[in-house]
Amino acid sequence: IEKKKAVNKEYFEIMKEAQIFFRENIEKYDEALEYMKERDFSLDEINKFGIGFASSSRDELFRYLLKKDFPEQKIMELGLVKRNENGEIYDSFRNRIIFPIYNADAQIVGFGGRIIEKNTNLPKYLNSPDSPIFKKGNELFGIKYRGENIRKKGFAMLMEGYLDVLTAQKNGFENAVASLGTAFTEEQGELLKRYTDKVLISYDNDEAGKNAIVKAGYILKKYDFDVKCLVMDGSEKDPDEFLRKNGKRAFIEVVKKSEEIFDFLTKEVSKDLDLNNINGEKKFIERLKPFFSNITNNLSKNLYLQRLSVNFGINDFVLEESLKNISGETSQRKKR
Ligand code: GTP
Ligand code: MN
Ligand code: MN
Ligand code: MN
Ligand code: MN
Repeated sequence: IEKKKAVNKEYFEIMKEAQIFFRENIEKYDEALEYMKERDFSLDEINKFGIGFASSSRDELFRYLLKKDFPEQKIMELGLVKRNENGEIYDSFRNRIIFPIYNADAQIVGFGGRIIEKNTNLPKYLNSPDSPIFKKGNELFGIKYRGENIRKKGFAMLMEGYLDVLTAQKNGFENAVASLGTAFTEEQGELLKRYTDKVLISYDNDEAGKNAIVKAGYILKKYDFDVKCLVMDGSEKDPDEFLRKNGKRAFIEVVKKSEEIFDFLTKEVSKDLDLNNINGEKKFIERLKPFFSNITNNLSKNLYLQRLSVNFGINDFVLEESLKNISGETSQRKKR
């Protein structure tokens, strides 16, 4: 274990140096500062979040890290550089704004890079690959040292993107976090649970976002969170856009109006159904099964059943028969 710690220490040092490189770089490139200005970030804010820039240079970062005497092998394992067919090593992040990803011990474990060119076929975001110190599904972007930002607010705001989180945090919503370009995982649920019992899902205002709310909701219920979701009825695509367009007061109003996950879910799954019709009702109940099978807390389950009965006029006995005792393998809280 001691040996492993020593090995990991060097990975963390490399990431720290890489961030210093990116950070110092951003002030040298007008196009990077210009891009961040378009996204309403001042230089102070850029520095506060440790935002950096990777230029289009082929291997500037690589050479910088070699000069600091870090081994090529580890730099490569961290995904900071790649090797092409000719055996030449080049920087992985190029022409991208760089967001450092911190773990809950305030160590940099990865980077997210956003392309700044407007017309390009390259992917909009590039994330560090998994490495000896980074498993994407285990980390949350925006988490502060030991989750202090979440503890302080008493709940977490779960968002989709890097810039949603940073814009939210700089507007006083310090408790914003995001899963890293993947669906919300059980490990992330477990991580959050160390710091709070309440989550406000604040995903994008589109079909993909809505589907993702449902799925994150299942996982959060497995860990017995109190779950709400944000409803932005306007045309704004995501929290970042909403905040920049309407300001924080308007966002506070939206937060106040947030909806209990079960109300959101029942609305979502019944959109295309006629609940006055037996077939519609059957489908409705079928679609609620995954939700109920993920609830680990019995009292919550009963309260949701009661709400379902009252709101939709479905007989208690029927619900009891079909939903109460379902508990698949999924309803067992994972033991590790
Ligand atoms: P902006 O356009 O910069 O505001 O990004 P966004 O965060 O609003 O983008 P979007 O809603 O499309 O995606 C949400 C999150 O998914 C991003 O923040 C990324 O973490 C991830 N993501 C989006 N596009 C890509 C991509 O092309 N590749 C990868 N790996 N992740 C992506
Ligand atoms: Mn997208
Ligand atoms: Mn989206
Ligand atoms: Mn966005
Ligand atoms: Mn978005």
